[in-house]
Amino acid sequence: MPVITCIDDLKRLHKQRTPKMFFDYAESGSWTEQTFRENTSDFNEIRLRQRVAVNMEDRSLASEMIGVPVSMPVALAPVGLTGMQRADGEIKAARAAERFGVPFTLSTMSICSIEDVAEHTKKPFWFQLYTMRDQDYLRRLIQRAKDANCEALVITLDLQILGQRHKDLKNGLSAPPKLTPATIADLMTKWSWGLGMLGTKRRQFGNIVGHVTGVDDTSQLGSWTAEQFDPRLDWGKIAEIKEMWGGKVILKGILDAEDAVKAAEVGADAIIVSNHGGRQLDGALSSIRMLDPILQAVGDRVEVHLDSGIRSGQDVLKAIAMGAKGTYIGRSYIYGLGAMGEEGVMTALEVIRKEMDITMALCGKRDIKDVDRDILLIPEGFSGNWA
Ligand code: GLV
Repeated sequence: MPVITCIDDLKRLHKQRTPKMFFDYAESGSWTEQTFRENTSDFNEIRLRQRVAVNMEDRSLASEMIGVPVSMPVALAPVGLTGMQRADGEIKAARAAERFGVPFTLSTMSICSIEDVAEHTKKPFWFQLYTMRDQDYLRRLIQRAKDANCEALVITLDLQILGQRHKDLKNGLSAPPKLTPATIADLMTKWSWGLGMLGTKRRQFGNIVGHVTGVDDTSQLGSWTAEQFDPRLDWGKIAEIKEMWGGKVILKGILDAEDAVKAAEVGADAIIVSNHGGRQLDGALSSIRMLDPILQAVGDRVEVHLDSGIRSGQDVLKAIAMGAKGTYIGRSYIYGLGAMGEEGVMTALEVIRKEMDITMALCGKRDIKDVDRDILLIPEGFSGNWA
């Protein structure tokens, strides 16, 4: 059994154990992948202040996101096709989140359906919504999330059309995978993945297949988004969906202070500063660079969360110290899932918890609620002087 000490260890195992098309799907950014890379490398530009001779006993990472108690301010982000990284992946990840005391967000483009996840968990999860052209389907989807007792609706705003990820096109990404000589050769080396998949009935987009009519091919994310996602989404429609839902709403994919102001005006409970993990607009700035301008614009009006680029507990701590109330990990837990299923997600969360806890202590703090910019060294002009 390999010794896992960091998220990169899980990533190596994920790559070994998972079909190439799904590992590549998770590991891709759009076009040149500049934003994807900078999401992580920009965290390294921020340094930490080492403080000494302060009592480090009795530390706590417990906090709240949208009023929900969390054992640490880290939620599992919505990730499409999670059930293709491992059989029943969404159920496994949701269970790990529940055991760890952090929120799980189910993607619209999940393999396990809303009902599947609700049936196999006790704690309410959050549901991520893509808005669709088909209004009946959209209404039913929202109702299904209500019926499953979902605690928050996370509306994604930055993917009405799909950013191009070269590898997905080259690999012929689909769920389930189409059997070609190349995929068969690859699957033969990923036997534990294959055994898991043979043992489950969940191999298609569970929120879609059986719930929509008149769609020819539901196996390809690319064609589904192009045909079904609503490119006319605007602030008026967001307000309508918020009304339809009637509960807590988180707006995901805000990367600009002007949009953050609009999100606050629409009455969101929280916004997620995000560029979709660098998977949409390549060339956009990293989330951590945009956090400060957005906090300055709306930090006193709406809870601000952040995703994109978090691969360690230190990254979480930096975002929280800068002023985010919560963070989300996507790839960091997907590596764990692909590596070792539910226990791998637990390991990813534990790696992050431990690193955050020790770093916080070495910065002279005992409670995450007391962590602020005082622990950071942020280079001048970090958010940039962009004209
Ligand atoms: C879907 O959300 C994706 O980024 O592929």
